[in-house]
Amino acid sequence: MSRIDWEESYSVNNEEIDNQHKTWIAIYNELDKTMLQGDLKEIDNITAGSLQKMQDYARYHFSFEEEFMQKIKYPDLVNHRRIHKDFDTEIYNYYRAMLDGQLVLNTKIIKLIRNWLIDHILQEDKKYRLFLEKHSNQT
Ligand SMILES: [Fe+2]
Ligand SMILES: [Fe+2]
Repeated sequence: MSRIDWEESYSVNNEEIDNQHKTWIAIYNELDKTMLQGDLKEIDNITAGSLQKMQDYARYHFSFEEEFMQKIKYPDLVNHRRIHKDFDTEIYNYYRAMLDGQLVLNTKIIKLIRNWLIDHILQEDKKYRLFLEKHSNQT
């Protein structure tokens, strides 16, 4: 129900980054599916694992994207990097709380992650696409 389907409007006009976003969305969809169909006995292990997988992939993607923004001399890199870091901390906190048994993955968290992913790609990541388009028109 809350799975994400890739849409052309998500594109940042960079094939590698688009592919990374697609992979990241696939990891999210896996998490969402586990939540919907998971065996309650196994759900803690599975979701902690999926959350860790999401964090690992997010870190890989963030550093790739930050390097890319550095390369194109994107002026708002510091702010964008801070937003990435905040997300990383948030996921890490959920993951820790789950391992400590203080938190069970619920639809509210799934929804937060879902909204973050879509909003971030459509708003923040889109900004460097626009910057690049503007910049390449000038040269
Ligand atoms: Fe980003
Ligand atoms: Fe991104």
